[in-house]
Amino acid sequence: MKTIADIKKKGKDEKIIVLTAFDYLFSTLISGCDIDIILVGDSLSLIFGGNENTLPATLDEMIYHTKAVVRGAGNCMVVTDMPFMSYHVSVEETKRNAGRIIKESGAQGVKIEGATDLTLSTIAALTDIEIPVIAHLGLTPQSINALGEYKVQGKGDEAKKLIADAKRVQEAGAFALVLECVPQLLAKEITDSISIPTIGIGAGVHCNGQVLVTQDILGMFDKIRPKFVKRYKELGKEVTDAVNSFINEVKEEIFPSDEHSFK
Ligand code: KIV
Repeated sequence: MKTIADIKKKGKDEKIIVLTAFDYLFSTLISGCDIDIILVGDSLSLIFGGNENTLPATLDEMIYHTKAVVRGAGNCMVVTDMPFMSYHVSVEETKRNAGRIIKESGAQGVKIEGATDLTLSTIAALTDIEIPVIAHLGLTPQSINALGEYKVQGKGDEAKKLIADAKRVQEAGAFALVLECVPQLLAKEITDSISIPTIGIGAGVHCNGQVLVTQDILGMFDKIRPKFVKRYKELGKEVTDAVNSFINEVKEEIFPSDEHSFK
């Protein structure tokens, strides 16, 4: 089973590969590949739940999905997103919520967005009770109502703050940092100025690893199509083609044939 020590070591000379999974089926499919971390992202709120953004995801939902993912995760490390409002009230409440994720689901770590004073105390408190934390800076989707839109972060004066925040989350104890939608040269500067690995999503090639949503790289999710997603397959079309073939064969009594029937 991969641990944070493997991730930290790998980030120095080899890319860290992270993909999302929300269920047992996808977890078994991707854990057979050379993945380091399976992230149970709160993007499941959009892709599994059909919501407009990540905000509706609940702690119980994240635990339910993580349990299924852990069953299929093989040697991969499983990290779960702490959902909106599960780490925003107090450090004490956050410790209970993160503790539930670890105890009930079997995840080995949690991911937390932002670098507010509360978030930094939270990262320190969770690290102190041996719950590994991945920090998440740049575009933090749980802030969508404050941001107004999903857009590139860290332009102009914001760049300095982002570099300082990256140092702060490292100091607080995060073992890795997701950088989302950040200009690639800024992501390089951040990567060069901290010792924990950076994992980019829309942050260019210089990060120590990359993360994407699995359904995005498979071409299965069309509602939002960010520029940083590369679609390696068009499985959404394959699914509808297969379903249409089934419908036609049933209507024309081609299916079930003798091969799929009992004598
Ligand atoms: O929710 C999510 O899937 C994420 C990404 C970094 C992919 O946070």
